[in-house]
Amino acid sequence: METKLVKAADSVLDEAANILKRGGIAAIPTETVYGLAANAYDVEAVRSVFRAKGRPQDNPLILHIGSTEMLYDIAESVSPLALRLAESFWPGPLTMIFPRKPHVPAETCGGLGTAAVRMPNNAFTLKLIERCGFPVAAPSANTSGLPSPTSAAHVMADMNGKIPLIIDGGECRFGVESTVICFEGDDAVRILRPGAVTPEMLREYAHVAVDSGVLEKIDPGARVLSPGMKYKHYSPNAEVYILKGDTGSVSRFLKNERMNKTAFLGFGDEDIPDDVTVFPYGSTAGEQAENLFASLRAADAAGCAVVYVRMPETSGLGLAVYNRLLRAAAFRTIDTDGGSDAVL
Ligand code: TXA
Ligand code: MG
Repeated sequence: METKLVKAADSVLDEAANILKRGGIAAIPTETVYGLAANAYDVEAVRSVFRAKGRPQDNPLILHIGSTEMLYDIAESVSPLALRLAESFWPGPLTMIFPRKPHVPAETCGGLGTAAVRMPNNAFTLKLIERCGFPVAAPSANTSGLPSPTSAAHVMADMNGKIPLIIDGGECRFGVESTVICFEGDDAVRILRPGAVTPEMLREYAHVAVDSGVLEKIDPGARVLSPGMKYKHYSPNAEVYILKGDTGSVSRFLKNERMNKTAFLGFGDEDIPDDVTVFPYGSTAGEQAENLFASLRAADAAGCAVVYVRMPETSGLGLAVYNRLLRAAAFRTIDTDGGSDAVL
């Protein structure tokens, strides 16, 4: 199959909508990462999304909506808290989990009795969903296990020949996937995946718990609230290590411990040996979120064997960066101030 790449514009809305209406797939831009879109109510279309990604069948998809009416077509019930969060954060990077109505296919929801819903903040994609008239199921548009795509070129690298259309909406604003929450009673939420809607932001509306799976390894076979937590994620081919320590000790580590084909993602204030390849990262969580996946992909493309990444902050958006980085690094962390969890 030939994969066509077109710029996001009103002139391609019809073409994209027709593909989705006929049960096909198109890659779409959102403010978080690119998604692989299909009609959420069409079981065959949803199956082809799982196939294109190589995604395990029990890992449910997020249903993307263009209006609050669509939420009521999916959710069996919507609590006053959920409605308040929708009013405050939609369109935007917040995914909420609801009990689903029986007509929402089990395949879309990984066999669960719930459905994850979000309204993305991208003008083209909102128009596309409206034109389709059905919710659009869209996992991140990467091959399962690889870093999520934050540009149309990343999608092309993974999906060329597998899908008919990629809509290029430029680089994604946030660069990490949406915050996923479930509800615990009337006034509490649990964060299953951190994102740009931070725990601090949600605390203005509800009690907030951060699930232990956000920062801890999940035991194989453990029961998890969100199936995505248990799968290998965001991993480039290179081995990723998190460097935890101050700028001086990180600089000394790079000088003494670097290997052949070493890549580094830093804050910008380190001393970096000439033979270490530097990729964009940044000193703020916002920059790090924007750059992390793209730089992991670039390090792979450059043939790097090892990627050292400085540990981000663990509050605010930093929690989302750290959550993705822990998985990319398979939790390998080196304390450059002394001590190490990993044997090199
Ligand atoms: O920002 C995003 O959320 C992007 C863009 C494209 O919207 N989408 C995305 O989808 O990241 P995906 O499929 O890569 O991640 C969805 C996550 C998975 O971890 C999945 O397990 C979880 O959401 N999820 C989906 N439905 C769920 C449900 N009913 N219950 C619990 N977790 C669910
Ligand atoms: Mg994903």
